Amino acid sequence: MARFIDDLKRSHRCGDLRATHEGQEVVLFGWVSNYRDHGGCVFVDLRDREGITQLVFDPERMGFGDAPKAAYETAQALRGEWVIGIRGLVVLRGSNKNPRLATGEIEVHVVELTVFNRADTPPFEIADKIDTGEEKRLQYRYLDLRRAPLQHSLRTRHRLHQLTRRYFDDEGFLELETPFMVKYTPGGARNFLVPSRLNPGKFYALAESPQLFKQLYMVAGFDRYFQIVKCFRDEDLRLDRQPEFTQIDVEMSFVNQDDIFRTMEGLIFKLWKEVAGVDLLAQYPTGRFPQMPFEESMAKYGNDKPDLRFSMPHTDITDEVIEHKGGGIPFFAAIADKFISKQYRRDLPTEIVKALRIPADIAGKLSRAELDKLEDFVKGMGAKGLARAKVDAEGNWLQSPLAKTVTPELRLAVNKAAEARDGDLLFFQFGKESVVHTVMANLRIHLGKKLGLIPEVGHGGQFNFLWVVNPPLFEYDDDKKTWAAAHHAFTRPHDDCVDLLDKDPGKVLCYRYDLVLNGFEIGGGSIRLHDPVVQSKVFTALGIDDDEARTKFGFLLDALRFGAPPHGGIAIGMDRLAMLLSGAESLRDVIPFPKTQRGTDLMTDAPGKVNPEQLLELRVRSIEPEVK
Ligand code: AMO
Repeated sequence: MARFIDDLKRSHRCGDLRATHEGQEVVLFGWVSNYRDHGGCVFVDLRDREGITQLVFDPERMGFGDAPKAAYETAQALRGEWVIGIRGLVVLRGSNKNPRLATGEIEVHVVELTVFNRADTPPFEIADKIDTGEEKRLQYRYLDLRRAPLQHSLRTRHRLHQLTRRYFDDEGFLELETPFMVKYTPGGARNFLVPSRLNPGKFYALAESPQLFKQLYMVAGFDRYFQIVKCFRDEDLRLDRQPEFTQIDVEMSFVNQDDIFRTMEGLIFKLWKEVAGVDLLAQYPTGRFPQMPFEESMAKYGNDKPDLRFSMPHTDITDEVIEHKGGGIPFFAAIADKFISKQYRRDLPTEIVKALRIPADIAGKLSRAELDKLEDFVKGMGAKGLARAKVDAEGNWLQSPLAKTVTPELRLAVNKAAEARDGDLLFFQFGKESVVHTVMANLRIHLGKKLGLIPEVGHGGQFNFLWVVNPPLFEYDDDKKTWAAAHHAFTRPHDDCVDLLDKDPGKVLCYRYDLVLNGFEIGGGSIRLHDPVVQSKVFTALGIDDDEARTKFGFLLDALRFGAPPHGGIAIGMDRLAMLLSGAESLRDVIPFPKTQRGTDLMTDAPGKVNPEQLLELRVRSIEPEVK
């Protein structure tokens, strides 16, 4: 029988020992984090997931016979990342305390040592701060995960999971599973497909979310459901998007939007308090997060996920431009003419003009060269340029090509709308609505970072939550000249908008909501459409006939006819929550085994080729990509 593990059981973890343990005999297991041979004595920092303990191998240690000498001799061969076990004595470090270690008051004088395993020299140092490229770290992810920041990050996730489960259990929710391999349904994100060997030529889709199944749980009477669940989406990846990610998925029966908000606010307050030690009640004394209509968010911030840690809203000046027929500015006049000649309608997405005001006290921080660089920044997003003007005490526009031709009337109207005062800087964007919104939204965030209003990365100790509510049910597809469901076809319209479904679909608002934190969408959901009469009106407005509805959503439509309760729900992105809570830069920092921006796993080399026999069995033929 081996002495260590079988006989000598671990007595403590490497982060446990304090001065109060002085004189105790302990058994520790872990990895050699640091090794120093001080001529006559060997010092080792022993690491496990709980911390680091300094070990001393002193061959002269009295009272243990020859054992310390034998341990010392073995210790001389130790190297970084070897896995060892020791038995030793806790000794106070006296004046040699290490204030940077939780165990810094003590060291363990080793009596007995065993080497469980040696290690190759790691490709990078297992230290808190390293400048090794991310590719290398992802290739050896299990080594990267040994580093304290990632250990901390995954422990935070563990806490998030456990607290979430406890919270929902206490609130009477059942944690129920849903299938990953589902039928492909159109709409939403692009799905990963899985060929079915037993049904040649047919495919499962990997569920992009449990959406339809959680609604079926409501029809089945489960009333309150939640699940911490993996979702799969074949999307273009970004820092805040992974192809497989985790949702805290929730569905409730007999509730309205506000009931869902309260439930989720309760969860977020709990998580922030118990994981981050932040009492959100100090910021939100009523225990509620603020709400903003979707339309206001688009007008002021250019998207539906505004970062409210700083102000600097946009001003939509399209109405002013139309009223003043372009006010002497040829580009504006071209847009105004299209509205005046009724080629454009203000309630459809066409062209708009927006201004962004930078207050005088911070505008001064931007040098001429930096202002010119902003022009390149917006061009990178498809803008044609970035007109700007400096406002003086009389409301004149200076340092601006627009100043030569603009009429005093439009200039004053714009100054008034944007509340521009002496020394302020105005930026202008005009053109296609979606481009103007995106450019101005990104410009606002870019300037917020540049001007030090928000940090480049992380929360800076500020957490600004917001519910974005009441978006339109339909989006206008300008190419096809039709209305399309803005989210999914089962979102409930506001009751007072039902009459507008056939008359003016663009004006129909719905019970859909997003939860936003510091400029990131961390969750989204809706109250569902359970009433077949309104359901069929929505389909008519979307131009979907009965046959098409059956093919697309047959089983859900069936289920809704068998006594579906009023219900609604939401899903929170667990990875985004973990990222924002911990101030990480990317989802990859909070996901143990993430994919790269190209959707690959550098450690296992997935996705990989399969052999022709496997493809034959699945009745799938692979077409080699064209060589360009
Ligand atoms: P939605 O599609 O808005 O809603 O997703 C909910 C939340 O999931 C997170 N999320 C992602 N996180 C990482 N990588 C991704 N690729 C990714 N995609 C989404 C976001 C997002 O807010 N079934 C509905 C919810 C409902 O209506 O109840 C749904 O999935 O934080």
